[in-house]
Amino acid sequence: MTLRAVVEGIGHYLPDRVVPNSEFEKTLDTTDEWIRTRSGIERRRFAAEGQTTSDLAVRAARAALENAGLTPDDIDGIIVATSTPDLTFPSVATMVQKELGMTHGFGFDVQAVCAGFIFALTNANALLIAGQAKRLLVIGAETFSRIMDWNDRSTCVLFGDGAGALVLGLQDGTGANTDRGILSADLNSDGRYRDMLYVDGGVSTTGAAGKLRMQGNPLFRQAVEKLTSTAETALAKVGLTGTDVDWIVPHQANIRIIQGTAKKMGLPMDRVIVTVQDHGNTSAASIPLALSVGVETGKIKQGDLVLSEAIGGGLAWGSVLLRW
Ligand code: UT7
Repeated sequence: MTLRAVVEGIGHYLPDRVVPNSEFEKTLDTTDEWIRTRSGIERRRFAAEGQTTSDLAVRAARAALENAGLTPDDIDGIIVATSTPDLTFPSVATMVQKELGMTHGFGFDVQAVCAGFIFALTNANALLIAGQAKRLLVIGAETFSRIMDWNDRSTCVLFGDGAGALVLGLQDGTGANTDRGILSADLNSDGRYRDMLYVDGGVSTTGAAGKLRMQGNPLFRQAVEKLTSTAETALAKVGLTGTDVDWIVPHQANIRIIQGTAKKMGLPMDRVIVTVQDHGNTSAASIPLALSVGVETGKIKQGDLVLSEAIGGGLAWGSVLLRW
């Protein structure tokens, strides 16, 4: 018998304000056409004034609990992947815990930028398998609009705000790759690439939150190569290959990265969940948002083999392979 961490429910929340590419034409030397063709993004959501990352996370968590038919009493712990917390501390996870009315269990944040949800999911899987909890809420939530330099056209048109959450529980499996649940994961980072994507402020440097800086083109080239290799590693761990996958649910940074990775894995685009056109790059929220949309639209069904992969600041990158 092998214990498996299985998805029991999923949900997401997007702030009300939809910002089309044309908004940026008013203030920047850019066009809807450039943004669409270079990134695939058509619109994104921005949180309202005063709306925080934990506000988005709580809404997503409630949606996931409802989808699972569970209440906060059924949850043993909360892990939030975010790089845009409400405060330096306490964690967003403990804020969510309070808002859900939980006085039991634990909560903590994971910070691996755009790969954050992959790292959070892998940690949640390990905690569950190790017997530290029976059921966890795993959330990706971001307000990247708060760290944009609105004068930098090469970054501010690319990011958005949102949150996605899933409930992860335990189920007995056989140990075979036909089991439901998380089958394998692969995590990586390489701090030598720090300058490719970073925020130019922080607690122990400037004392201020800072703004996002990115070398888009070199990062693009790293992304396709590293995402393909982490996906292949996760698949190989359980004796599978790219063509076994029913759905790739990738980090949504750029449609050309998504297409390039799918092509290298030998998968057609109709087996890829794409939300970048509507959400932009929501960093750690992008994979749970895309998973939730994939389920909501009836694409991802129980038993499907789902591969998620992401790369971001650090650089940090990785993948999770699971059977829905
Ligand atoms: O989530 C973490 C992971 N993030 C990523 O993986 C992002 C990876 N990078 C990318 O998605 C792409 O590199 C971008 C979408 C950021 C840029 O696309 P690109 O094809 O790599 O373009 P580029 O950076 O080579 O820039 C091409 C040109 C430049 O002008 P020159 O130097 O050729 O005259 C830029 O100044 O496009 C210019 N440019 C813009 N033009 C109009 C940059 N931003 C804009 C803009 N509007 N918003």
